[in-house]
Amino acid sequence: MSKTYDVVVIGGGPGGYIAAIRAAQLGLNVACIDEWKNARGGPALGGTCTNVGCIPSKALLQSSEYYEHAAHGFAAHGITHDKLAIDAAKMVARKDAIVKQSNDGIQYLFKKNKVTFFHGRGSFVKALDGGRGGYEIAVRGAQDETLAAHQVVVATGSNARALPGVPFDEETILSNDGALRIGKVPARLGLVGSGVIGLEMGSVWRRLGAEVTVLEALPVFLGAVDQQIAKEALKAFTKQGLAIELGVQVDKVEKVEKTAQAGRGKSGVSVSYTNAKGQACTLAVDQLVVSIGRVPNTNGLAPEAVGLALDERGAIVVDDACRTNLPGVWAVGDVVRGPMLAHKAEEEGVAVAERIAGQHGHVDFATIPWVIYTHPEIAWVGQTEEQLKASGRAYRAGTFPFAANGRARALGDTTGLVKFLADAASDEILGVHIVGPLASELIAEAVVAMSFKASSEDIARICHAHPSLGEALKEAALAVDKRTLNA
Ligand code: FAD
Ligand code: NAI
Repeated sequence: MSKTYDVVVIGGGPGGYIAAIRAAQLGLNVACIDEWKNARGGPALGGTCTNVGCIPSKALLQSSEYYEHAAHGFAAHGITHDKLAIDAAKMVARKDAIVKQSNDGIQYLFKKNKVTFFHGRGSFVKALDGGRGGYEIAVRGAQDETLAAHQVVVATGSNARALPGVPFDEETILSNDGALRIGKVPARLGLVGSGVIGLEMGSVWRRLGAEVTVLEALPVFLGAVDQQIAKEALKAFTKQGLAIELGVQVDKVEKVEKTAQAGRGKSGVSVSYTNAKGQACTLAVDQLVVSIGRVPNTNGLAPEAVGLALDERGAIVVDDACRTNLPGVWAVGDVVRGPMLAHKAEEEGVAVAERIAGQHGHVDFATIPWVIYTHPEIAWVGQTEEQLKASGRAYRAGTFPFAANGRARALGDTTGLVKFLADAASDEILGVHIVGPLASELIAEAVVAMSFKASSEDIARICHAHPSLGEALKEAALAVDKRTLNA
């Protein structure tokens, strides 16, 4: 056994690297093992989020949004240009540079906080004295090591789910990984699944000129989202030219040799499906992104070596405090229950590190925000109107449209609305839902309000700068009491 640590973290994504840093801040002797490799085989800390998730997708969304503004939005401001071009390879290279900056940033943070990093795969070897004496963890990588850990935090993340019998080749059948590496705008792009990835990636390539079709199994659009908000978003996406077919059953996916069928490019994909009316249909595209959810990842972890319990989905079983069935073994992030979001993973990582150090770490699962970075953006926290109805809770709703907000009009970005849901008796805010400009930033006010158990009256009485998009939140809060001032 080469080294002993107070805490060994397996996985260096947002759950793992944040847990490692917080544990080190609290004076613990910490190692973090991560196996992600960059194009040169070197380490690439940050997990899915940094390498093929949050950060690169937002970089491409930003570039493509600038292009869309230049192509369709500038003229209304009196700005014209002769010739607009897109260099998709350069756009992807910019994204890669941002990813590398983030990878390097985490390595720097590890050095600064004295977290020892091992590049390789971490696996359980055995429990010492039934786990009461800690665990032996093997690292297989550039150098093989065996570590002893008093406490272990598992943060091994998730992988994209493939359609049965249709493996990803990342050339024509793409997961999020391939979808973020498309180097040339495809003429026709298909996506299976109109969830978060389907909408974000579909938006990127539609803005750049691809004809985009999204096939979704569910008969409702964004079923987890407040349906008033989802309907407004669907209207906007359809107007932009994103073809979204709901209630579809995908029957067969075949790679085809080029051309009449597959459009431009060397080869393509043919998707046979049954539409909502029961008709047999075919979709021919150059490339197909499969974005039908993600599965918890315990590949190579060897949970069976120590008896770590997994559920039927393959997620590590944890309680509310992220304790597993084994003493001294914790698990956080995408590999456990709950929403697969980077900030949820981070919050769990901090809470676990604090619990290990004898503090009282806590995650408020009821106030975790969601954001979909399309245009318009969609963001929400708390319960939807459908959930409140189903639970029988008496509530009052207030909405305010961005069309009546001065800043939104100045921006030329008036699609969407803000919606407040508050308890009918106490006025406590139960949910806030936004579709519109910078919803990703605006939702923070609602998260703070709900964390402090604010009422809609509290937000209605707080002074908001003018002109600002934030005023739409104040007005929606006023609308709960039917006293908006500007609509
Ligand atoms: P991961 O980030 O998956 O990290 C796990 C790490 O563990 C990886 O580096 C992996 O290589 C490593 N690992 C696994 N097994 C081992 C082992 N045995 N030994 C050593 N290392 C191992 N979330 C948001 O909140 N906002 C967004 O905007 C957003 N955008 C997304 C866009 C896309 C396209 C995708 C796919 C996801 C997005 N997500 C977003 C989700 C977010 O990326 C995940 O929720 C988050 O990365 C989960 O963090 P994690 O630490 O649990 O796991
Ligand atoms: P998702 O769960 O958001 O959406 C998957 C969609 O695919 C659902 O609408 C589902 O009904 C549909 N579907 C499932 N099987 C299907 C089938 N056979 N045929 C057609 N449709 C099918 O999953 P997605 O988009 O893959 O993203 C995975 C996760 O990554 C998200 O749930 C989220 O946690 C995270 N993420 C977060 C982002 C953000 O916070 N902005 C951005 C991207 C991903």
